[in-house]
Amino acid sequence: MKSAKSQSGGKHAKGHTEQQNTAGQEASAYISDPDSPSIDSQSIGDGIIQDEVAVAAAEPEAKSQPKAKASLLPPYDGPVLEVRNVHRSFQTGSRIIHVLKGIDMEVNPQQLVMLKGRSGSGKTTLLNMLGGLDQPSSGDILFSGQPLQDWGDRKRTSLRRKEIGFIFQAYALMPLLSAWENVELSLRMADVPRSEWKDRVGHCLDLVGLSKRVKHRPFEMSGGEQQRVAIAKAIAHRPRLLLADEPTAELDSKMGAQVMSVFRNIIEVEQVTICMTTHDPTILEVADHVYEMADGRFIK
Ligand SMILES: Nc1ncnc2c1ncn2[C@@H]1O[C@H](COP(=O)(O)OP(=O)(O)OP(=O)(O)O)[C@@H](O)[C@H]1O
Ligand SMILES: [Mg+2]
Repeated sequence: MKSAKSQSGGKHAKGHTEQQNTAGQEASAYISDPDSPSIDSQSIGDGIIQDEVAVAAAEPEAKSQPKAKASLLPPYDGPVLEVRNVHRSFQTGSRIIHVLKGIDMEVNPQQLVMLKGRSGSGKTTLLNMLGGLDQPSSGDILFSGQPLQDWGDRKRTSLRRKEIGFIFQAYALMPLLSAWENVELSLRMADVPRSEWKDRVGHCLDLVGLSKRVKHRPFEMSGGEQQRVAIAKAIAHRPRLLLADEPTAELDSKMGAQVMSVFRNIIEVEQVTICMTTHDPTILEVADHVYEMADGRFIK
C-alpha cells in the first residue's frame, strides 16, 4: 500500500471529506490488518460507515481480551502540539500544488485553539497533519514532544486511536445505533476493556447533556444533539487531543453555542485540548487562541 504522501495527489475532492475519509480508512486498516498503513483508495464516508458496521457487527467475546490503554507517550509538560515550518504540497498530474507554506504553531494543554480562514486556505489540510492522518512534505510536528514523522505507520495509527478524537461537520454517527451504542462503539474500537464501558458511556453522554437521549438513534435527534453524541463518542476513549473540522457549520447559532459550551466543559472535566476550524465569527470569541490562515500561511 502506498504512503499518505505518495498517493494523495488527484484524490482530493473536499478537505472535510478527505479527513472523514482518511479516518474511516484508518479504522478499516485497523479492522482488517492492524499493521497496514492507514490509507487506501476506498471512497470517503463509506469508509467510516463500513468500518464501524464491521466493528459493530463483530462478536466482542470472539475478539481477544481488550487491553487497558497503555501510554505511548512519556510524561511531557510542554505543548500538546508544536508545529515547525510545516509545508505540504500535492502533486496532481504534472502540477505541484503548494498548500501549506511554512506553518508554525503551538497548542498548549487544555486550550481551545481555532483555525479560521477562507475556503481553500488550508485549514483541513493542516488539521489532517495535526491528527497524524497525513504527513508534511517538510517541517516537524511534535505531539506531546514526540516527532510524529519519526514514528512508523503502526505507532502513529495507535496514537490516533488512543490519544486523538475526531469530530466532523456531519456528525459521523452510525445511523442504526442508539446514542449509547454509538459511544460504546468508539470504546470497542479503541480496545478499552468492556468492564469500563457502562460507566464511561454514561459519563460521556452526561457530559454532553444527553442522559435522557441514550436510546435515541441519530434520526430521532436534532442536529445539535447528534453533534453532542459525536462529541461524546470522540472523547470516550480519553484522548489527549480533540480535532474538530467545522463542528458547528451545520447547526443554527443556538445549537452551535451549545456545542461550544460542551467543548469548554470537557476541557475542564476531561482535561482535553481542542483544535478546531470554523468560519463563524461568534464562535471565534470563545477561543483561547485564533490562528488565521490565508493561502497556506498564518496571517500575523
Ligand atoms: N489531496 C489533495 N490533492 C490536491 N489538492 C489538495 C489536496 N488536499 C487539499 N488540496 C488543496 O488544498 C487547498 C486547501 O484545501 P483545504 O481542504 O485544506 O481547505 P480549507 O481551508 O479546509 O477549506 P474549507 O473552508 O472549504 O474547508 C485547496 O485548494 C485544495 O484543493
Ligand atoms: Mg476544510
